[in-house]
Amino acid sequence: TLWPLLAALLAYLIGSLSFAVIVSRLMGLSDPRSYGSKNPGATNVLRSGSKAAAIVTLLLDAAKGWLPVMLVKWFGASYGLGEGTQALVGVAAFLGHLYPVFFGFAGGKGVATAAGVLLAFEPLLGVATLATWLIIAFFFRYSSLASMVAALFAPAYYLMGDGVAWNSAGAKTLAMAAMGVFLIYRHRENINRLMAGTESKLGKKSKK
Ligand code: G3P
Repeated sequence: TLWPLLAALLAYLIGSLSFAVIVSRLMGLSDPRSYGSKNPGATNVLRSGSKAAAIVTLLLDAAKGWLPVMLVKWFGASYGLGEGTQALVGVAAFLGHLYPVFFGFAGGKGVATAAGVLLAFEPLLGVATLATWLIIAFFFRYSSLASMVAALFAPAYYLMGDGVAWNSAGAKTLAMAAMGVFLIYRHRENINRLMAGTESKLGKKSKK
């Protein structure tokens, strides 16, 4: 059956909606690809000074990871789609955010979208990962650092939880590991800045 591939393609297209760019345009703000870290993500939109735009971006970028997985959860059974397809569409939406077909394949780092995917996989897992992000962000004030630490903890939390039977949880564990690798790879400039001590702190406005 082609349903899993079709579902993945749709998820990729939804993931390709770069809400940092769309929301900024709709709210009359500058393009987030032109200031700060130049990243189309909620953290960088916050550097524009608009908290509202950053929150809307965060929620929509998370929703586009959450929704495809939930649609498979809700309606997949009638099409023979199970856990494997949930994992597949989650990764597809995430990759859409990183490499959006509508924006010249130049997307973001996948933090909000991955959070949405995790919340859909397992709400408790999503909440534990978000809590990890919040704790690191609170103490260190670096969004990038919080994101990377949370990405490292997520698969560990998942394996600590129940349902680790390889055939069912395996696809999701793999999906999380893959998202974690991409997420950290996309933060390589942040890693350099963190080590050089030049990374911008959370909520600090960008001069340009
Ligand atoms: O949203 C991604 C975040 O972890 C880092 O974003 O703009 O500081 O590179 P940014």
